[in-house]
Amino acid sequence: MSILHVPLVVICLLNYGETFLELNTSLGNSTPSNLPAAFSTALQKTLTIDAQQTLVFDKVLTNVGNGYDLQSGKFTAPVKGLYLITATAFNFYHVSPTLEIVQNNISLVDLYLDGSGHQNSAMTQTLILMLNKGDSVWVRSKTDAAKLSGSAGQPTGVYNTFSGYCIKNVE
Ligand SMILES: *[C@@H]1O[C@H](CO)[C@@H](O)[C@H](O)[C@H]1NC(C)=O
Ligand SMILES: *[C@@H]1O[C@H](CO)[C@@H](O)[C@H](O)[C@H]1NC(C)=O
Repeated sequence: MSILHVPLVVICLLNYGETFLELNTSLGNSTPSNLPAAFSTALQKTLTIDAQQTLVFDKVLTNVGNGYDLQSGKFTAPVKGLYLITATAFNFYHVSPTLEIVQNNISLVDLYLDGSGHQNSAMTQTLILMLNKGDSVWVRSKTDAAKLSGSAGQPTGVYNTFSGYCIKNVE
């Protein structure tokens, strides 16, 4: 009676760590591997800013890599790479603000809405940017008296956010 030799099947598992970002929600304050930067911020109050003023988002939800500076309201890329940057703003009652996303003080895109015929609306822009290490991105006003609704405004809630993350760093 011959012994049946069952071939050992070696299954080659994909090494997901090489190709996917390891987002581990239990990591707390430590940096997930392969993710140099990820930030998410919000504005918790109603705020009026004038032309050239930075919109400082005062609540930090996520700041992997510490690229977002709560004092200046600016995100600075900790590594060279491809980044997704997105901003959403919500006007105050009947105000028509224009905001802009700027990179190193150069305007990239505008966020505009006509609030005159509406009560409140949201405006948003999402960009994919190649940033060098040390490049800064922030949101500023293009118009005077740009009033945005926050949690103390009309209506109450948190409506303004500024977020981004490094999709892929470049060596
Ligand atoms: C996630 O992080 C926790 C705490 O650091 C660790 O124990 C766990 O093994 C991690 N899980 C994965 C899939 O990396
Ligand atoms: C930033 O850009 C604004 C608008 O173009 C300009 O008025 C200001 O002088 C610039 N600031 C610096 C430090 O270059």
